[in-house]
Amino acid sequence: MKKVVLLPLLIVLSIYSIAEARVKVTGHGAKMNFSDESIPEIHKPAFDLLQVKCIKCHTLERTVIAVQTGIAPITGQPFNKQGVKAYGIKMLRKPNSEMNKKEIRDIVVLLNFLLDENTK
Ligand code: HEC
Repeated sequence: MKKVVLLPLLIVLSIYSIAEARVKVTGHGAKMNFSDESIPEIHKPAFDLLQVKCIKCHTLERTVIAVQTGIAPITGQPFNKQGVKAYGIKMLRKPNSEMNKKEIRDIVVLLNFLLDENTK
């Protein structure tokens, strides 16, 4: 009887500890975002940019999940540093993205930082 209780508890605890290691986020669903507290001053301008530019066509949930899981949620492509760069270029090429090269570069640097934080 005891074993039956203990096993689910162990599973819950191990999932919880994995979640703890991940980059800090706030909100759920469409309101999901990276936690402002976990962004160092140097990346704040890029974070501001992300919150304006990257919510034009979809919510930040997509970006947060990609960073957390390492997998781009729509195409299932790996969302690692190479993936981030490729995706940045893809965004830049979208006709109505309204982003320039420098903005994309800053956001790519920020996302790389968040990917690193997530694997710590
Ligand atoms: C012009 C509209 C537009 C803007 C602006 C935009 N996205 Fe997207 N995004 C899309 C579309 C459309 C998709 C669906 C898959 C695709 O076309 O790549 C997508 C998909 C994604 C995905 C999932 C990719 C995949 O392959 O599963 C991520 C992550 C993402 N966007 C992040 C961002 C970030 C970060 C920014 C800001 C730099 C951004 N998006 C800005 C339109 C946009």
